[in-house]
Parts: sequence; structure tokens; C-alpha cells
Amino acid sequence: MRFSKPILFITCLLPLLWIAISTGQAVNPIEFLTRQTGTWALNFLMITLCVTPLRRLTGYGKLLLYRRMLGLYVFFYAFIHAVTFFVFDHGLDPAAILHDVIKRPFVTIGFLAFILLIPLAATSNQAAIKKLKRQWQALHKLVYLIASLGVLHYFWLVKKDLTTPLIYAGILAILFLMRTPFARRFDKAKLQKNT
Ligand code: HEM
Repeated sequence: MRFSKPILFITCLLPLLWIAISTGQAVNPIEFLTRQTGTWALNFLMITLCVTPLRRLTGYGKLLLYRRMLGLYVFFYAFIHAVTFFVFDHGLDPAAILHDVIKRPFVTIGFLAFILLIPLAATSNQAAIKKLKRQWQALHKLVYLIASLGVLHYFWLVKKDLTTPLIYAGILAILFLMRTPFARRFDKAKLQKNT
């Protein structure tokens, strides 16, 4: 569809619009902003990871056209999440930031996930894909490690109710299973090729 990309682009901005409107009304705006941007970074990460299995199951190759944009939105929301923490929580004080990154394991994990997202975002363009070739594929497999770190980060920071991080862990486990040779036997794309 001709307008599918601009429509997706605008749709992906809707959570930000909602966050911007709701933050002003929140009891603790900084906490609200941090939590919502973290949640949306993880949501977009899961959605991005669904693209390849969905393409394989449906045989609809054009889905890949949207993967890059979705991936860049993961970085976009994670960036706002990290900046909120650095600027509003720590007043951009390097010593305070470093102290938190070292002393609080859930921050260490989140920070690592964010650092790993940077090379992926930086190489999400046609020139990098052409230049890096096979290395690009290897580099972008890091997305599974980043997703695992994101879920772990969530588990670690939750104190009581583990339901939501467990849901993310379940989705991620299914996505991992879909990469196994057994699951790949149901690939529509492959079935069509063989018939
Ligand atoms: C520099 C990197 C990061 C830092 C410093 C950081 C820090 C934080 C902090 C302080 C919170 C709030 C904890 C609380 O309110 O008790 C949080 C929540 C969260 N973060 Fe991060 N984070 C980082 C990266 C990430 C990344 C890359 C993801 C996802 C891929 C992520 C996903 C989440 C999620 C899902 C939450 C919980 C939201 C909720 O409570 O509903 N974070 N993070």
C-alpha cells in the first residue's frame, strides 16, 4: 500500500503523544515518563522481533519493509527513556550516573541494552547494509540479546507483581522458539518455494 509507511510512522508516534499529554497530569511526572518510555521501548522491540516470524508464517515478504522503521522506534523510545534518567533523575551528573550504573544491577542491565542498541540504530541504513554485508547480519542478531536484557532489566526492577515482565518473557520465549528448525518447518515462504 502506497501510504503504509507514513501511516506506520505516525502510528508509532502516538504513544509519545499520549505520554506527552499524560506526563503533565501524573502524580510523579519523571517516574511516569521513565516507566512509559521504557515500556514502549520494550513494546517496539517485541513488535520488531515479530516481523520476521510473521513474514515466514504468512509468506508476505513486504513486511520486511517496516522492520527498519520499527527498529528505529525502539531506539527512539529507549533514547528518551535513557535521557529522562540521565537528565531529570541525575541532572546530567556523570559521577551520579556512573554510581547508579555500577551499583544498581537493573540500571547496569538497562544501560548495557541501550549501549548495544546504538550500533544497531547507527547501521540501520542501506549504505551500512551494503558495506557490512554478512557482518551486518551478525551484528543485528544482537537484537535478541538486547531483548533478553530488556526483559531482565524489567524483572530486576519490579518489586512485587511479576505479571507484566513474565508476559514479556513469555513472548520472547515464543519468538526464540519460532527460530528453531522445528518451527521453521511451518514457514509459508519456504513451503511455497519448495512447491
Ligand atoms: C541507559 C539505559 C537505561 C536506564 C538508565 C534505565 C533505567 C530505568 C529506570 C530508572 C526505570 C524505572 C524504575 C522504577 O520506576 O522503579 C526503568 C524502567 C523500565 N525500563 Fe529502563 N533503563 C534503561 C534502558 C532500558 C531499555 C533499553 C529498555 C527496553 C528495551 C528499558 C525498559 C524498561 C522498562 C520496560 C521499564 C519498566 C516500566 C514500568 O515500570 O512499567 N530500559 N528503566
